[in-house]
Amino acid sequence: MKETVVSGIRSTGNLHLGNYFGAISNFLKMQHEYNCYFFIADYHSLTTHPTPSDLHANVRQVVAEYLACGLDPEVSTLYVQSDLPEIAELYLLLGMNAYVGELERCTSFKEKIRKQPDNINAGLLTYPVLMAADILIHRAVKVPVGKDQEQHLEMARTFGNRFNRLYHCELFPEPYAFNYGTQLVKIPGLDGSGKMGKSEGEGNAIFLYDEPEVIRKKVMRAVTDSGPTQPNQEKPEAIRNIFTLLEVVSSPDTVAHFNDAYNNMAIRYGDLKKQLAEDMIAFTAPIREKIREMLSDEARLSKVIRHGAEKARESAGKTVREARHAIGIRHF
Ligand code: TRP
Repeated sequence: MKETVVSGIRSTGNLHLGNYFGAISNFLKMQHEYNCYFFIADYHSLTTHPTPSDLHANVRQVVAEYLACGLDPEVSTLYVQSDLPEIAELYLLLGMNAYVGELERCTSFKEKIRKQPDNINAGLLTYPVLMAADILIHRAVKVPVGKDQEQHLEMARTFGNRFNRLYHCELFPEPYAFNYGTQLVKIPGLDGSGKMGKSEGEGNAIFLYDEPEVIRKKVMRAVTDSGPTQPNQEKPEAIRNIFTLLEVVSSPDTVAHFNDAYNNMAIRYGDLKKQLAEDMIAFTAPIREKIREMLSDEARLSKVIRHGAEKARESAGKTVREARHAIGIRHF
């Protein structure tokens, strides 16, 4: 039996090249090796009160983008969180054994209090309970998430173990973070430091859905310096970042050409950026085309999502039935 993997995908924001070489490349590999459940975490996004039309448009966009990147809904199970009432039910059951104190101590909750002091809703406090329900609902043991989610995973283990202990069962296994990790390229942003991300500021990330004109503009504005002052000198971070980006989208010849130019102090950043922009455009064009195709095919999108919900509900229904039974809920 293949091990079960669950991952929640934030429903806000479009995918960028950093996601493409990070989480998505992980997912594409995992889908063939594990029993994978990938879902769009639309309930979680309600903690920030999106408008109804934004919520739906975001979910559609994210589904289309993941499909365009190669997530195969026949191989893994792709669904929308709110299509599974079982998740809401398990969230309710787990919530009875989650203590306010431990939820208040959660780092992500404290951060939210700081970021949105005018909207500290109960959903923010119980975010880790919902996330635990997402994972435990399929009794997953592997969860492909980054370091920032480590504490949430620990809480999922706590809630699962607590349930098992309290109700004398072994319903929930312990889920752990999991990634192929080390061999992944970290994709830097265009602002000269750090990684590509949508929260790092306008223009830092290249989205898969960006039009060629937008990509050109962003790349031309990327941070550089005044150029090398000695032959073969070490590249400062901003320049290294541009070369890293070039390495993922351009041919080895192109990379070698600009490396030589840098080492000979003959480099012109304008030319480097023009080449980088065109190669990024060529790289993302087929994906952008597929996203557009997906978004224009309502029938196909809805078929994929319904099929995913159906498959996911099979596993979720079984877990909730067993959880209710363990608790002592009986039908009359
Ligand atoms: N909290 C995760 C994030 O911010 C999203 C998420 C929700 C998730 N439920 C999950 C991730 C379950 C993994 C498993 O990225």
